[in-house]
Amino acid sequence: MPEKTQYYTRTAQYLHWIMAIIFITAWVIGFYSGNFLSYDVDGSFKGNIITLHKNIATVILFLVVVRLFWRYTHPTPALPASMSPAMKSAAHIAHWILYFILIALPITGCLYSWSAGHPAPVLYLFEIPRLLDKNPEIMSIVAPAHVYLSWFAGLLLLGHIAAALKHHFIDKDHVLRSMLGKDKS
Ligand code: HEM
Ligand code: HEM
Repeated sequence: MPEKTQYYTRTAQYLHWIMAIIFITAWVIGFYSGNFLSYDVDGSFKGNIITLHKNIATVILFLVVVRLFWRYTHPTPALPASMSPAMKSAAHIAHWILYFILIALPITGCLYSWSAGHPAPVLYLFEIPRLLDKNPEIMSIVAPAHVYLSWFAGLLLLGHIAAALKHHFIDKDHVLRSMLGKDKS
């Protein structure tokens, strides 16, 4: 296990914030398409929006591999001593569920797309090789899995952001700064 420091490394911080921007953007676009657009009203516009959602969201799958490798090979900061053991455990569990979501959402998204007979494109540059042919039976499982997981992710993220703000403005500890600052050396 990596030893404890005050701050996440610069690389871990960049990965966290870049992935946060990509994730939240993909989430909002997916939610907009899934709940506010219909093929009956403007099919090609909805198609373009879903394609945009996929091209952005697949990037998460590549970045999370780099991030987990970095997580295992570099030290992470200790949580404040003022937190109770139960709160520390809750924070760690929440972080691992967030990592699970960072893997499971893009994977269920790709399975959803392939089983519907569509590609999983990355940044309009290339496609992830298809591991599945069109398959309505699989789609009837992975489509709701993707949708429900995305809603759960939205709720968990609200809690994650609220917790970060509470640490900073109410508890006035270093948790938010650990994802922003740097050791003076
Ligand atoms: C970080 C990763 C991702 C996030 C946060 C995310 C989030 C979402 C959300 C919030 C929805 C709307 C759910 C609803 O109907 O309420 C959605 C739908 C969808 N997502 Fe994703 N998704 C991700 C990755 C992917 C990937 C990689 C693909 C495919 C390559 C994909 C394909 C789809 C499709 C086809 C829909 C249905 C859109 C519609 O019915 O209009 N998603 N996603
Ligand atoms: C405005 C949005 C966000 C804020 C203010 C925020 C804030 C933070 C802070 C302060 C930490 C360090 C917490 C600690 O040491 O206990 C952290 C860690 C983390 N955040 Fe976020 N975050 C945001 C968005 C996101 C998003 C969108 C995701 C992914 C879906 C995410 C995933 C994670 C994960 C997995 C960790 C644990 C890092 C580790 O220990 O390896 N965050 N976040």
